Amino acid sequence: MPRIAIFASGNGSNAENLFHYFSQHKIAEISLIICNNLQAGILARAQNLGIPVLLIHKNSLYQQNVVENWLISLKIDWIVLAGFLWKIPEKLIALYPKKIVNIHPSLLPKYGGKGMYGMRVHEAVIAAGETESGISIHFVNEAYDEGAIIFQARCPIEMDETADSLARKIHQLEYEHFPKVLASLF
Ligand code: GRF
Repeated sequence: MPRIAIFASGNGSNAENLFHYFSQHKIAEISLIICNNLQAGILARAQNLGIPVLLIHKNSLYQQNVVENWLISLKIDWIVLAGFLWKIPEKLIALYPKKIVNIHPSLLPKYGGKGMYGMRVHEAVIAAGETESGISIHFVNEAYDEGAIIFQARCPIEMDETADSLARKIHQLEYEHFPKVLASLF
């Protein structure tokens, strides 16, 4: 069974959803959470779910081989980014070719790139007067949000839509599709 490491910097609701899905559908195992933020909601979730956490600082990802060493020693097969805000270094992409997948809360290539994350994305989508938004699940390459797209799902934007209400819709799409799309890759 493929062993997954989830990289997450924030609330971690997608990570938890993936954990529950793969606990039920025994196609893959969530073996490790990698987090760079001591304040992140994902930490309490991981503790409740009994998933080991590796808390990293910038040096452990970019200068040293701390992350690679853990991934290798825990026999991790796939990396899933679920709200991870740091850029993935090339050495990691080389170690996991076509085995790093990210989820982004817009219809890429629109509203992607550096600094485009979380509510900033939804605020920009609303400000631009878009009539639809959605999610993109894609492979990770050296450029933020530019790797090959694997899957997209769309939702309409209503006249009275706010960034908050859009964020809720997008999260629902993520919970519904992300586990199944990953399962189709493993
Ligand atoms: C999701 O909207 C995802 O698309 C983006 O970051 C958000 C993470 O949300 N990459 P959560 O931490 O899983 O609740």
